[in-house]
Amino acid sequence: MKTQKLAAHEVEAAAAMLRRGGLLGIPTETVYGLGANGLDPQAVAAIFQAKGRPQDNPLILHIPSADWLERFCQDIPPAAWTLAERFWPGPLTMILTRKPLVPDVVTAGLDTVGMRCPAHPLCRAVIAAAGVPVAAPSGNTSGRPSPTNAADMLEDMEGKIDGILDGGPCSVGVESTIVDLTVQPPRLLRPGGVTLEELRDALGEVAVDPAVQRLMGAGEQPRAPGMKYRHYAPKAPVTVVKGDPARCAAYIAAHLGPEDGVVCFDEFAGDYPGHTVEALGPAADKAAQARNVFDALRAFDATPVPAIWAQCPDEAGLGLAVANRLNKAAGFHIIDLEGEP
Ligand code: TXA
Ligand code: MG
Repeated sequence: MKTQKLAAHEVEAAAAMLRRGGLLGIPTETVYGLGANGLDPQAVAAIFQAKGRPQDNPLILHIPSADWLERFCQDIPPAAWTLAERFWPGPLTMILTRKPLVPDVVTAGLDTVGMRCPAHPLCRAVIAAAGVPVAAPSGNTSGRPSPTNAADMLEDMEGKIDGILDGGPCSVGVESTIVDLTVQPPRLLRPGGVTLEELRDALGEVAVDPAVQRLMGAGEQPRAPGMKYRHYAPKAPVTVVKGDPARCAAYIAAHLGPEDGVVCFDEFAGDYPGHTVEALGPAADKAAQARNVFDALRAFDATPVPAIWAQCPDEAGLGLAVANRLNKAAGFHIIDLEGEP
């Protein structure tokens, strides 16, 4: 199949592609998505094929406004309206009890569904023009880092999807925060653009799923099925070094092999002459780190580096999301220099 590249003004053509059951690369403020009509089981099944995604990993439904929630969800708790009011449109996905209308293939058979109202103006325009909820996972091949611009998505999906709408680079850069509102207290399943602190400010107590911060054991099931897979991983193995940035930079310089690559804060980018270095952004700018993290990981796949070392921010604010993506890319292979003499 030939993948049609659509420019920002071609919203109607993009919406038509969705309506007739096609697969559309769609920009959002978080990452690019691989969208299809969420009410068309055949179109949704094609998403799984194009990504090579395991069948047991459910998809998020994207809607243009909170008043679509009641079409697809039931027993909606007051917390959902509180969060919608504060954070929608924006990088937040809520897990809610679904209505039978939502196809099984979307939810992988679960009785819950992830609902998100994205902020990207083009994305909203396409969904509204299509008039259907859009099922969309991140637009990468399963297991690879998520795409944060149209070129990255085409690298994975050229020839496998009908079209892609170019909405420029994503402003957030990591996927949406996922919060499960079907349990008490609400539970953070994936950290993202809306921070844990912001959720707690809105809701009070919010639990954190263990899959956010560590590798799941053999018998354990994370509540977001996608969190159990190795993810975001470049081809070379990644080691995360956490703690004071200057100490971590020195540790990496002392331990890296002659051909190894480095992901580091901008301040340390000059510390590794002769190595492939991807700068993550300034140490104090977690929003920049979120925008850059997937691109940095992806860049190494075009190089022969045998191993990658990565600096990592602390977990306050957006740091939790950036650290989670780096830790997952590393399979939670982490060297913790915090508290060491
Ligand atoms: O920012 C985002 O959320 C992007 C853009 C395109 O909107 N989408 C995205 O989708 O990241 P995906 O499929 O790559 O990640 C969705 C995650 C997976 O880990 C999946 O297991 C989880 O959400 N998920 C989806 N539905 C769920 C449900 N009903 N219960 C628990 N977890 C769910
Ligand atoms: Mg994904």
